[in-house]
Amino acid sequence: MQDGVDSYTNWEEIGKGAFGKVYSVKKDGYLYAIKRLHLSHMQALDMYRDEIRPLVDLTKHKHDHILMYIDDFFYQDSKIPANKGKPTNSDRSLWLVMDFCPLGTMNNFLLRPENISHTVLFMKQVADAVDFLHGHEIVHGDLKPDNVLVSGTVQDPVAKVADFGLSKACRNAITDNGHSMQRLNWYGAPEVFKRFNSLYTKESDVYSMGAMFAAMLDRTTVRGDDGKLLLAVYMVHPQSMTEPVCFLKPVGMVQTVSGTVQPTYTVQPMGKVPVGRVQHQIPNTNLSGCIMMQQPNDCLKQLILEMMAYSAPNRPTAQQVKWALNITHD
Ligand SMILES: Nc1ncnc2c1ncn2[C@@H]1O[C@H](COP(=O)(O)OP(=O)(O)OP(=O)(O)O)[C@@H](O)[C@H]1O
Ligand SMILES: [Mg+2]
Repeated sequence: MQDGVDSYTNWEEIGKGAFGKVYSVKKDGYLYAIKRLHLSHMQALDMYRDEIRPLVDLTKHKHDHILMYIDDFFYQDSKIPANKGKPTNSDRSLWLVMDFCPLGTMNNFLLRPENISHTVLFMKQVADAVDFLHGHEIVHGDLKPDNVLVSGTVQDPVAKVADFGLSKACRNAITDNGHSMQRLNWYGAPEVFKRFNSLYTKESDVYSMGAMFAAMLDRTTVRGDDGKLLLAVYMVHPQSMTEPVCFLKPVGMVQTVSGTVQPTYTVQPMGKVPVGRVQHQIPNTNLSGCIMMQQPNDCLKQLILEMMAYSAPNRPTAQQVKWALNITHD
């Protein structure tokens, strides 16, 4: 009898993120998604035990809007299944099994013109999920429309918040392709732009949720590093921002003296800038004059502006956001 990841069949690569690849697989007639995280850090096992196991343990609780990790496998060195990539002696792989969400990411779902509705429904579901995570002392750390997956049917979609806690757990341990730290954080709170190894908190999660909601209302988009359209809120580089905001654009690969291949970058000034990045430099930025311009000045807009307040203690909690959404929009 096969065990571990080998008990799953019909492997197909369906996506790739900063932390690894995602496959659709089958077991006992059901479809699952498996995320493979390639860990190269020495403390991979400690990280798995201390950071990942508590996330997987959350499966004991059921929540309609959380994409739980329903199984996990950790392989050190030689115990890597032979047919899933070419293992090396230093391979440490963590495989996380989740339910498969047939409608893909909320990002792609909402960007389809036919899916014009569902915005407030998704907001309520996401706020419910984040409140649940925070109630279990879990900071998501990477809330964005690509980390919300969609289950159910097109007429009756169900948002599922995915990848909670992974970015914190993996920040030091993942070097699959080395690009995770170069990515632009379109949903980051002002305080997370303060230093390289930022501290993500419940308050920064609420900010990211607000940035996500603002983009969902206006359907504003930016191009991601790979050219993909992302539902994101942005500001046009303000004149008063003396320091230009640049990003590192990957331009190719280069072989180092040690033989490893690494990406090379050029510095490019940006036209569209993450709102949190602007606030980081100009704390008193008046957001109401810059974002959600198409929206009436109603309770929902006010709530989102509060979620994106510069000062973390001034933001509502996820629970308050959930309540406010349920009271004002049913
Ligand atoms: N449970 C799932 N069901 C269906 N598709 C999924 C599932 N999980 C991931 N995917 C697909 O795999 C893609 C890559 O996911 P992944 O989480 O690795 O990357 P990401 O969310 O774009 O970035 P990040 O690494 O920051 O999370 C997603 O965009 C989605 O299309
Ligand atoms: Mg993800």
